[in-house]
Amino acid sequence: MAKRSFANKRVILTGASSGIGWYIASMLVRAGAYVVITGRRAERLEDLRRSFGNPSKRLIAVPGDISDPQHRRKLIDTAVQQLGGIDIVINNAGVGAIGNFESASEERLRGVFEVDFFGATELTRLALPYLTKGDEPAVCVVSSVLGHRAVPAKSEYCAAKFALRGWSESLRVELKPKGIDVVSISPSTTDSEFFDSLVETDPAQKSRSIGKQPAERVAKSVVSALRRRKRDMVLSAGGKALVWLGRLAPNFTDRMLMQYAT
Ligand SMILES: NC(=O)c1ccc[n+]([C@@H]2O[C@H](COP(=O)([O-])OP(=O)(O)OC[C@H]3O[C@@H](n4cnc5c(N)ncnc54)[C@H](OP(=O)(O)O)[C@@H]3O)[C@@H](O)[C@H]2O)c1
Repeated sequence: MAKRSFANKRVILTGASSGIGWYIASMLVRAGAYVVITGRRAERLEDLRRSFGNPSKRLIAVPGDISDPQHRRKLIDTAVQQLGGIDIVINNAGVGAIGNFESASEERLRGVFEVDFFGATELTRLALPYLTKGDEPAVCVVSSVLGHRAVPAKSEYCAAKFALRGWSESLRVELKPKGIDVVSISPSTTDSEFFDSLVETDPAQKSRSIGKQPAERVAKSVVSALRRRKRDMVLSAGGKALVWLGRLAPNFTDRMLMQYAT
């Protein structure tokens, strides 16, 4: 199948104010796309627009909270009114939390799900009528290795990313007859601002992981996966090893995680 072109594509990208999303936005603009960018930090979105010299006309900033239904509606309306439709939705916004489930609140679980799961699924729901009429349409989900193999002390985040994977798998088959691709990318630990904005997490709690991928490299993989119409990509050798070990030797993986990840 021919590679997807980004020339004049109309994209909605969440989580563009830092990390992976910032680089995805930059790469898509350089490839000729028009991108509605969002995140809560308006000044960051403006910085991104200004990074292209004059505020880029290819980047339309709509700051707001992706867990707010009115903001999701505004993203769709902006794309339709200013770009004439939607070809690609990239659900990248995400938050995490660290600490055992037992000592955490219901608010933490719901807070993570509102952004990571409902933010993505409900934005996509609103976009589907337009994607159906789009040019080489696609829904992209930035998930996580932890949506394939869960680890302790991140139960809320793992659950949200597992849910996102189940939803993506189902949607992929539903949307196939309409020619809409569903592309899921699962990065491992990435060097970004992710661990600075954890939900209801004691600042003393630290994430344990081996190595970090640069956010720019992860963004390149996301853009490449979209271009090559991939379905579900686990990034990094460590990420792939964890997923496979978890499948082949689940009890051994549990013991290993008890020793090293708690
Ligand atoms: N970093 C990692 O180790 C890692 C590993 C695997 C997967 N991922 C996934 O990669 C994606 C991008 O994360 P990142 O590493 O680039 O982290 P990041 O630098 O913290 O970026 C997260 C983005 O999500 C946005 N966001 C968070 N809560 C939001 C809300 N309520 N409403 C609107 N936007 C919101 C943030 O914008 P504002 O703060 O301006 O709202 C920011 O633009 C996430 O889905 C994450 O789960 C990250």
